[in-house]
Amino acid sequence: MIWPLFVNCWVPANDPRTGCTVRLHGPVNDRSKIRNKIRNDVDLGSKNTLGLPCIADYFCASADEDELAGAIAWARENKLPVLVLGEGSNLVLPARLNALVLQLTMTGYVVRSAEPDIVDVAAGNDWHQLVTELLAAGWYGLENLALIPGTVGAAPVQNIGAYGVEIERFVHSVRVFDMHTLRWLDMPRADCEFRYRHSIFRQHPQRFMITRVRLRLSRRMQVNDTYGALREELERRGIGQASATQVYDAVVHIRRQKLPDPRLEANVGSFFKNPVVSQLHYELLRQQYPGLVAYPQGADVKLAAGWLIEQAGFKGKSSNGVCMHPRQALVLVNQSGASASDVLAYADSVVAKVESLFGVVLQREPVLVSSDGFCSAA
Ligand code: EPU
Repeated sequence: MIWPLFVNCWVPANDPRTGCTVRLHGPVNDRSKIRNKIRNDVDLGSKNTLGLPCIADYFCASADEDELAGAIAWARENKLPVLVLGEGSNLVLPARLNALVLQLTMTGYVVRSAEPDIVDVAAGNDWHQLVTELLAAGWYGLENLALIPGTVGAAPVQNIGAYGVEIERFVHSVRVFDMHTLRWLDMPRADCEFRYRHSIFRQHPQRFMITRVRLRLSRRMQVNDTYGALREELERRGIGQASATQVYDAVVHIRRQKLPDPRLEANVGSFFKNPVVSQLHYELLRQQYPGLVAYPQGADVKLAAGWLIEQAGFKGKSSNGVCMHPRQALVLVNQSGASASDVLAYADSVVAKVESLFGVVLQREPVLVSSDGFCSAA
């Protein structure tokens, strides 16, 4: 008996924009209006950066929270799973997808005088464009995360991170629609369970629809420029004490050099996570492979998966239209019309070879979507 919430009742929700309780009504009640917004058989080929051919049975794009909640209610009524799509920069999609795909198109950001250090950002913003705009407006902190593909709403899901910084350190709270309880929530950072490339949103990929992210940013420049490759690039440019803009420029330069542009070469960034092993495992490996690249991670050690994959012989090695990129072996590229099964077969061969050589099982970074609309995150 969930539907009456939408059909007859008003659903209370906490609105971070006003800090008050609001009530959802209007469009949510009007089923035929919502059904008219939902399109059938929509091609997602250009809506996922791995360029996988995919037809979604149902698709709805909206910037209206009530409308999106109503579409979720419609999907529940019709026993359809819901997939929230950003720029599709961390997904492996099937050829046919029996689900309702929601694309959130709300953009812009708000700063309220009552909380001058909180920037309340809509989920549909392009992440890099937002980083660029906020830096130009004198908000500091996000510059290390420049040029990461995807939308704002997708950023907390995998706790995006690069060049020594992860988004979690800036998250104040995340506004979500809980598709299980059908309620709006403001989740404080402590409830988001952030870890390396992980969050509660990734753990439960079909439970939460993120519509806004509230970021606590600084008006004072506090630059983080200690990450090896970033420091090297700044030194190459003769920069000692870097400004936020200099960090931004250096990060953009490094990423353009190392990482393929998904608009030109279809990819989802790192296809695998950097594996974390015990100190003992690391010592044993290092005896055998003195060139092993690794970083301390608490009591454990994080290995550079790119190095492991390169040693395993996959860097630039092509098979069935798929290869690990010749400049960064952690990035899998769809070179020419590969399908999800081509991609997964190739990825499996990488995992098997790396495991046989190093005794390390690589975990996939992108979320895998099955044809019946279910998501699995490794
Ligand atoms: N390496 C190789 N061969 C390769 C690639 C890397 O030997 O082909 C070794 C090199 O020694 C290099 C080291 O691995 O110095 C680390 O490489 P890099 O600095 O490129 O970082 P990464 O660990 O491979 C991670 C993130 C990237 C992020 C960079 C920079 C993950 C899974 N990936 O990559 O994130 O941009 O650090 O901070 O943690 C993404 O998530 O999509 C992504 C690109």
